[in-house]
Amino acid sequence: MNYNNIIIEIDDYLAFITINRPKKLNALNKETIAELHNAFRDLEEDSDIRVIVIIGSEDKAFVAGADISEFADFNMNKGSELAKIGQELLFDFIENLTTPVIAAINGFALGGGLELAMSCHFRVASRNAKMGLPEVTLGLIPGYGGTQRLPLLIGKGKAMELIMTANMITAEEALNYGLVNYVVDQNELIPLCEKLAYKISQNSSTAIAAAIKSINANDKDGVNGFEVEIEQFGKCFGTNDFAEGTSAFLEKRKPDFE
Ligand code: COA
Repeated sequence: MNYNNIIIEIDDYLAFITINRPKKLNALNKETIAELHNAFRDLEEDSDIRVIVIIGSEDKAFVAGADISEFADFNMNKGSELAKIGQELLFDFIENLTTPVIAAINGFALGGGLELAMSCHFRVASRNAKMGLPEVTLGLIPGYGGTQRLPLLIGKGKAMELIMTANMITAEEALNYGLVNYVVDQNELIPLCEKLAYKISQNSSTAIAAAIKSINANDKDGVNGFEVEIEQFGKCFGTNDFAEGTSAFLEKRKPDFE
């Protein structure tokens, strides 16, 4: 598929999605959100792909937010619609993907950019990265899941402060907050993602999908995460990966998952 705003590169089991609007600091316009949805959907359907990494083009920004020029004249209905469609098409969609998604935060991750990174299964950052939710400076609040995911990742008090002050935090601060898992120099960001992806690719993809579903159930209203875990755990016993993983252990060899 041809895209105008994103680049897809596949290296064996690892897919890179690069958001490619550097002149607009990779801001998420409607077309980019639709393209990202299609790309994630297609990569999820490709059983050869074990891990997806999402990154921004060039060194300045991961994503500097939703494209402000697109919603400057919106009314209340259009505002709600923007958030609803965006959440469904992209942010919730990524969170619920069964293929692991790593956000490689290579620069500014602001507003919708940080919300995008928070939708991914985990995050790594380059030392120059800056993160924040500056929506209140625009008379808005985060609308792509930021008010929900940030407190889960860093705690309610810190999330309140970050959103109310609109402060940008450094990569090191984000590491201390638990918002990102690693901070490395810019030139080490992709190698680190590749290393993590390799490690993930050696494990059972059906078990990883079950783990994602169970972990995501932890924070869902009206969902009992322990019950989801029991269900997913049980289902694992019916998979070829379970047969292979346990046989390999008993035969003292490395498992060869499908
Ligand atoms: N939406 C639309 N365009 C954006 C954008 C966004 N969220 N963020 C940056 N851009 C555009 C700028 O308008 C500018 O375009 P132009 O050259 O056509 O004028 C270009 O990207 C470069 O940005 P600029 O502001 O000139 O870079 P800077 O280095 O001075 O500042 C930031 C960088 C990230 C601090 C600044 O761009 C910024 O504050 N962006 C908005 C962040 C934000 O509020 N995000 C939340 C949106 S809900």
